Amino acid sequence: MISPAFLSVVLLACLSAAQAQSLPVSVPLTAPSSAVTVKPSLMALSIEQDRWTDWAGTTAKNGFFFNTLDNLKQRTGVAPPLRIGADSEDRTNYNAEVDYCENVFPAFSLTTPYPEANNNIVGDKYYHIASHLPSGTRIIWGVNFGGNNITAAFLAAKSLKKAFQSSAMKDAGVTLDFIEIGNEGDLFRFNGDRNASTFTIDEYTKEWTTFATNVSAAANMDSTGIKFMGGAFSSSDHATFAPQGLFSNGILNSAPGKLITSISQHHYSGSFCQGNGGLLQDLMTKATIRSNISEFAVDVVATRAQGLDYILGETNSYACHGAPGVSNTAGAALWSLDYMLFSTQIGVSQVYFHQGVGYKYSMIQPAMLTRSIIDGSNLTTPLAPHLQPAYYAALIATEAIGTSGSTKAVELTIDDPRVAGYAFFEHGTLKRAVLINSEAFLTTTTTPRTSKVINLSFSGSGSKPKTMTIKRLAIEHADDDHGLTWGGQTFETKDARPSGAISVQTVEVSAGLTISATEVVLLSFQ
Ligand SMILES: *[C@@H]1O[C@H](CO)[C@@H](O)[C@H](O)[C@H]1NC(C)=O
Ligand SMILES: *[C@@H]1O[C@H](CO)[C@@H](O)[C@H](O)[C@H]1NC(C)=O
Ligand SMILES: *[C@@H]1O[C@H](CO)[C@@H](O)[C@H](O)[C@H]1NC(C)=O
Ligand SMILES: *[C@@H]1O[C@H](CO)[C@@H](O)[C@H](O)[C@H]1NC(C)=O
Ligand SMILES: *[C@@H]1O[C@H](CO)[C@@H](O)[C@H](O)[C@H]1NC(C)=O
Ligand SMILES: *[C@@H]1O[C@H](CO)[C@@H](O)[C@H](O)[C@H]1NC(C)=O
Repeated sequence: MISPAFLSVVLLACLSAAQAQSLPVSVPLTAPSSAVTVKPSLMALSIEQDRWTDWAGTTAKNGFFFNTLDNLKQRTGVAPPLRIGADSEDRTNYNAEVDYCENVFPAFSLTTPYPEANNNIVGDKYYHIASHLPSGTRIIWGVNFGGNNITAAFLAAKSLKKAFQSSAMKDAGVTLDFIEIGNEGDLFRFNGDRNASTFTIDEYTKEWTTFATNVSAAANMDSTGIKFMGGAFSSSDHATFAPQGLFSNGILNSAPGKLITSISQHHYSGSFCQGNGGLLQDLMTKATIRSNISEFAVDVVATRAQGLDYILGETNSYACHGAPGVSNTAGAALWSLDYMLFSTQIGVSQVYFHQGVGYKYSMIQPAMLTRSIIDGSNLTTPLAPHLQPAYYAALIATEAIGTSGSTKAVELTIDDPRVAGYAFFEHGTLKRAVLINSEAFLTTTTTPRTSKVINLSFSGSGSKPKTMTIKRLAIEHADDDHGLTWGGQTFETKDARPSGAISVQTVEVSAGLTISATEVVLLSFQ
């Protein structure tokens, strides 16, 4: 008879073997033909238009927000681009008498503690404060199309032109690259902005062309160099409200249509107003990230065939401004990173993570909060501006891309449903790799934290690196909403600047490495 003690020893041995699986990962020494160029501006932010003044600052710049952008600019040499728009874009009206902006907000609720404004009345200074941004910042600004009052778009375009032609803006080095006419025009059929039975893609294209003709004249787009961002639809059926539908309706043939040089698509992985650990694991899962992004591959191909750029112009984890306990946690940082890097592989050139004051999925909270982002309850102590975990994904992605200006990346083929990886090349030569272990280790997980031993090898010709540095994103639990460190440093400080000494390990490549559940490592090869 086998003793229970013996059985438990066997069980333990099996468990520890399961906890430290060896996983072969082969990294090409030179960029394979499938590697894609990754822009230094891949990591971008979409900002809800109503509270733009909270982000930029009015009489003086918002130093906290500036620093969050500058941290990223230090890593790539390029300031992260911004899109200022979303729902409140179609509720914005211009009034020369307004100083910066006057908002009318609806009542908040448990699921939406920080709703978008119903009404956003702006004056010239609202646009001028873009000069508070880091030098080199490039912007997409949305104007009101949903309201179906061309005067609103006309006046906003004139004010935008004035702001971006000003010497203050030129001195600041901030550029308006694009105007976007309306946010998620496909939804106008369902939100009361247009008639559901008559507002087809054909009608959309006609009305867009009328607005764009007016806006292009108001913003003097022929001489200012400002272009139109096309699309910005909430979902794609690949035929009608999609780049394909815009092209087949001849949008690019009109005079303003010729000013479209890029197509924007919006995407959320789902809509969940309540969260749990299972939902967090779903979000982080390698396969669901790939299936969510791959949906758009045909749209990218159709867009690039017209010689246009393609971006995810507004995206984040889950609608409802994020799922509580999911979108605002460390696991969402792993999702953001894998989602952003995988997007490059289908030809997306920039990923604009949507941000709003008090939104659960924001990387950045730029203003003092007095209500809980989770349920709207009063906070006994207001929360000063701070970073949320997803910001670490921005740090890692920008660091992996680096300052070469011509970095290429390829996804590594890793035979594991939880481990994803990418290699980064400069001038064709392997420089760095990112590995992500997306198994959620939660505060509620009762089994020991697992890990994988990565057995690295190199493929292709070229000299094999002997040593590498390992930089880790340290996370206690996937559902933690603070307390992460990147290479030993926290960025969760009063001014969003890093605190603490950088801590990395330098090891022989042949020693391999271990990656724990819910961890990211950045390898830099020497
Ligand atoms: C359109 O907007 C302008 C400027 O805000 C306003 O004066 C006008 O009344 C609006 N027209 C309609 C029909 O609402
Ligand atoms: C644009 O629309 C405004 C407001 O209706 C109008 O005053 C202006 O003349 C229009 N511009 C062009 C070029 O049609
Ligand atoms: C939408 O358009 C249809 C067809 O022209 C019309 O019958 C219907 O009354 C319109 N609906 C609204 C809400 O205006
Ligand atoms: C997108 O990801 C979510 C998990 O976050 C999943 O529930 C959903 O089915 C995915 N959608 C597609 C189209 O793959
Ligand atoms: C929350 O704070 C606001 C503003 O101070 C106050 O009016 C409200 O009564 C408070 N609500 C609760 C539930 O304490
Ligand atoms: C690592 O992979 C190499 C082949 O690339 C293999 O020879 C070696 O046994 C592996 N090591 C471990 C510990 O699995």
